[in-house]
Amino acid sequence: MKTEEPKTRICGVCEPNQTIISLPDPRKIPLDPVILWDALDSRETTRKYSQDELYRWELSTLLHYTQGVRDKENGSHFRTVPSAGALHPFEIRIVVNRVTGLDSGIYRYLPLDHALVREECYSGDSASVAKVCKNPVLIATSAVSFIWTAVPERMIWKFGQRGWRYLFIEAGHICQNLYITCAGLQLGMCAIGSYDDNEINCILGIDGKTEFCIYMASVGRKQ
Ligand SMILES: Cc1cc2nc3c(=O)[nH]c(=O)nc-3n(C[C@H](O)[C@H](O)[C@H](O)COP(=O)(O)O)c2cc1C
Repeated sequence: MKTEEPKTRICGVCEPNQTIISLPDPRKIPLDPVILWDALDSRETTRKYSQDELYRWELSTLLHYTQGVRDKENGSHFRTVPSAGALHPFEIRIVVNRVTGLDSGIYRYLPLDHALVREECYSGDSASVAKVCKNPVLIATSAVSFIWTAVPERMIWKFGQRGWRYLFIEAGHICQNLYITCAGLQLGMCAIGSYDDNEINCILGIDGKTEFCIYMASVGRKQ
């Protein structure tokens, strides 16, 4: 049964004292044209990354095509991935190891501003996130990694128990878009589902109930 729309409806809301770090406007980045069929055919998992940095425009592109806002209408916003009821129930954190102009650490993406804020989490750094993964090397050697967390209330208020199903389906949409975008940019990536739930939630300072880590991915230049 439908209940009231929760106050946690909008993702990526930051505290007033947090410094907003802007990203290059994805619509102004002169991307090389990519043939969609080639990108789909070349999509693959890469687990070995070079020591090279990612450029900020590349990070901006990855964030835009995984959770970026492409349109706004009557209070709803539409992103580059579909979402049941256009509710977009995720928070997006990134673990930066090597991105031009960004200190290493954990950041949160603000889709409505297409910007980042430095995440204030308890023990959160790249090494601690790597440690909770079955294959720590994926995060440790990545240029940047993505951590998608779900806020179930953003779905359940409208879709009831069926909303749980949508959370997991939508996480797949996001990660697939990351794979395709990485293929287009000739970057390597690996989806990561094998990690300790309690430990990653603890590192991020979330309770594992009202918000929990649903999926991760590592990205870097191919070796
Ligand atoms: C839901 C999901 C979870 C995954 N988790 C991991 C993981 O924890 N570690 C890993 O090395 N690869 C992981 N992968 C990547 C798969 O192993 C990879 O997709 C598979 O070997 C097929 O290779 P391909 O992506 O190149 O086609 C995951 C993939 C999916 C879809």
